Amino acid sequence: MVKTPKGQSPRGGQKMWGGRFLSKPSDIMQAINVSISFDKRMAAQDVSGSKAHSDMLAAQGIITDTDNAAIQVGLDDILAEIKDGTFPYRDEFEDIHLNIEARLTELIGETAGRLHTGRSRNDQVATDFRLWVRDHVDEFDGALSGLQRALLGQAAQTADMLMPGFTHLQVAQPVTFGHHMLAYVEMFARDRARFSDCRGRLNESPLGAAALAGTPYRVNRHMTSDALGFSRPMANSLDAVSARDFAMEALSCASICATHLSRLAEEIVLWTSVQFGFVALSDKFTTGSSIMPQKRNPDAAELVRAKTGRITGAMVALTMVMKGLPLAYSKDMQEDKAPVFEAFDALALALAAMAGMVADMQPNADNMAKAAGDAYSTATDLADWLVRELGLPFRQAHHATGAIVALAESKGKALHELSLEDMQKTLPQIHGGIYDVLSPQKSVASRTSYGGTAPDNVREQVKLWQKRL
Ligand code: ARG
Repeated sequence: MVKTPKGQSPRGGQKMWGGRFLSKPSDIMQAINVSISFDKRMAAQDVSGSKAHSDMLAAQGIITDTDNAAIQVGLDDILAEIKDGTFPYRDEFEDIHLNIEARLTELIGETAGRLHTGRSRNDQVATDFRLWVRDHVDEFDGALSGLQRALLGQAAQTADMLMPGFTHLQVAQPVTFGHHMLAYVEMFARDRARFSDCRGRLNESPLGAAALAGTPYRVNRHMTSDALGFSRPMANSLDAVSARDFAMEALSCASICATHLSRLAEEIVLWTSVQFGFVALSDKFTTGSSIMPQKRNPDAAELVRAKTGRITGAMVALTMVMKGLPLAYSKDMQEDKAPVFEAFDALALALAAMAGMVADMQPNADNMAKAAGDAYSTATDLADWLVRELGLPFRQAHHATGAIVALAESKGKALHELSLEDMQKTLPQIHGGIYDVLSPQKSVASRTSYGGTAPDNVREQVKLWQKRL
């Protein structure tokens, strides 16, 4: 029996780790130490890890089958409480691991104390967190494919729909709206691939590394690794409890994905403005102004754009937490979870909002077609024609085209509105065939190089993606 000094509870005021402590931590110590308010999000993962660990302890003869059976029943009851919202999360037990162990003790008594044989909270938290990140990375794959399908739905309707393509946000060459949608399908495909690579690397089990050095118990780390769906146990116990690059990598993937969302969001903000008028969003994805009755604001797009700040901020925050930490575990690492939870929540919402907006978008074909012919957007077609038909070197063709654009500008005309005589003033060899390439339709139809914007290419890509998704 532990001797209890008068007026004090044994074990430092009921702390699980309190054997050598005589009095309770200060309130401020408690306040900075406690993590249950956020790490309770890993409750289900913690139960899974404990169930696998307990089964393994029994299989290895480290605990009895009877004790394991009691632990399994208790953990199942706890999982049911977590799911139906009746689990008592308590600050006095610090974190999710100790909360669950304390609850298990209430449910099954002293046997609960056998569960923590051959493990530490250090390998336990690393395991839980990997499981949590893995689960959510899998959800992003589903959300991203939903967004790709929404983009593809637009692309399938708009393979021929003209729009101006921009560089420097200045009208450059005509493209099609379908082609533009497919550009994002490609980007989000790479985001999925990045998350999938990240998943492959993170899917190793730290469980059984114990505090940092491994354990003298004859644990079977392959067994727990398999039970939890990991591909293998991590090979180095120090690395197993110290590594958080899996979380940094997941945040990097999230950050890049958010950047793509932000670019599309910015385009939606521009396109829905009166000045562009390229697409309209319905009442579902816009809001009004409290003072200006005529307004329809693309708030969802703006908020998706803004979430990128939070998500990339989270990546930087975790990187700063990890920078300079000596091996192995340091309590700094308790601060690894909040950035990941925050960023992942933001990304999940941003992906859902973007998929909703993309499906909701009504492209305005007339406005885009008109803008596609603005600003001499087919000047490159003219220059290419001079090279192809008249054999001019491209540089010379570029120069002659510049002169023709200047003439059109001085006359206030579009290129295809200039007369043949006008163009022949610059280059007498030009003939009527030139009018075949000067319209935006002809321009996009001619862009048949692999990956180009020609409507036939776009339709082909739509088909390929429809098969893949
Ligand atoms: N709540 C802790 C965390 O999230 C669990 C690990 C505690 N380990 C320790 N040695 N104090 O990091």
